[in-house]
Amino acid sequence: MRIESLKLLNFRNYEHLDIKFHPKLNLIYGKNGSGKTNLVEAIYVLFLTRSFRMAQEKTLISDGKDASRIEGNVYRKSLINYRVYLSKEGKKVRINQQNITKISDYISNMAIVLFHPDDLRFIKDAPSTRRKTLNISISLIYFQYLQYLNNYQNVLKQRNAYLKQMIVNANQSGEYLNILTEKLIEYGYYIYQKRDEFIRLLNPYLTTYYEKITGSAGLQLEYISSYHNVNKQVLTKLYQKGLEKDLKFGKTHIGIHMDDLRFLLDGKDLKDYGSEGQQKNAVIAYKFSELEIFKVSTGNYPILILDDLFSELDQGKIKNILELLKPEVQTFITTTELDHLCFLDQFNYKKFCIELGNIVEESEHETR
Ligand SMILES: Nc1ncnc2c1ncn2[C@@H]1O[C@H](COP(=O)(O)OP(=O)(O)OP(=O)(O)O)[C@@H](O)[C@H]1O
Ligand SMILES: [Mg+2]
Repeated sequence: MRIESLKLLNFRNYEHLDIKFHPKLNLIYGKNGSGKTNLVEAIYVLFLTRSFRMAQEKTLISDGKDASRIEGNVYRKSLINYRVYLSKEGKKVRINQQNITKISDYISNMAIVLFHPDDLRFIKDAPSTRRKTLNISISLIYFQYLQYLNNYQNVLKQRNAYLKQMIVNANQSGEYLNILTEKLIEYGYYIYQKRDEFIRLLNPYLTTYYEKITGSAGLQLEYISSYHNVNKQVLTKLYQKGLEKDLKFGKTHIGIHMDDLRFLLDGKDLKDYGSEGQQKNAVIAYKFSELEIFKVSTGNYPILILDDLFSELDQGKIKNILELLKPEVQTFITTTELDHLCFLDQFNYKKFCIELGNIVEESEHETR
């Protein structure tokens, strides 16, 4: 998959933009605040109709404007035109000039792997951030996963509400709670299996990539779940055992909504022991591994965006990361410095220099 061209109208600090990308590697260069992240964010929104930034959707529309348009030609088996239109009334999407009413139909064949400095939260933050990142990774591969996750969240809400009712009224039927628990196990077990499978697939890549970047071989991702090594019958018993605690607090204590992940480097949790650089390299190794799993599962590579890749990394690590780039994976790298370009000599790439929402220079580098 690759994006050939992008047109923006009133997207963040871009009033107008019309550019053609390099099929392999694109380097986006500019000072802080010039619009580098905004540009890769536009690609992300074109692919997935939403941003990776936390802010509200209306911040994507340029200040003082009513609407924003992001349009691009994406090559899959053929060239396809995608368009996202954002206005204060909401969002509209089109494929090849046809309105698409279901967003899930629009995004179903689009895939992007993004590294953004905020992704360090994947290691540092609470378990919910790790589950969210994992959910995004898995939903790119298994289309049904999000549906199961929604079903699970709905049943979990119902179960928690019912537990609260049981606290107030001891005569509430235990039978209904059993039905909810059974459903929770059904949806939860699917999610558990997909997470377990994904992490098993991921680990050999993760170890290899982290070693290629840092020279040290001991990185593993550990999956922590109450569903580990238990079948559905044993799970039913676990919920029965946990009922007293559930009724005490009016919420469900067992399930995949409590899952967590740990990046272990030689057995030690990077969250507590890792340096900033080690954490960043671990997340980058995770992203490169994600590309491979997507390829194994679907036959194609997603596009790769590495935002602010170089900051806080030493020259050696930067060189090692750039050596991982593959010509089959269309890649976008944003940077404030051009010092590292010497490491890219063996690549063909296009460089875009940005100043305050304008591309002021485009140049192509070709290997001799
Ligand atoms: N809705 C908007 N309308 C107009 N300008 C906006 C809007 N949202 C953000 N900006 C501007 O975009 C600029 C930030 O752009 P961006 O985050 O892409 O910078 P950057 O080049 O990635 O910088 P850094 O190197 O610091 O990461 C800021 O100057 C900000 O004021
Ligand atoms: Mg930025």
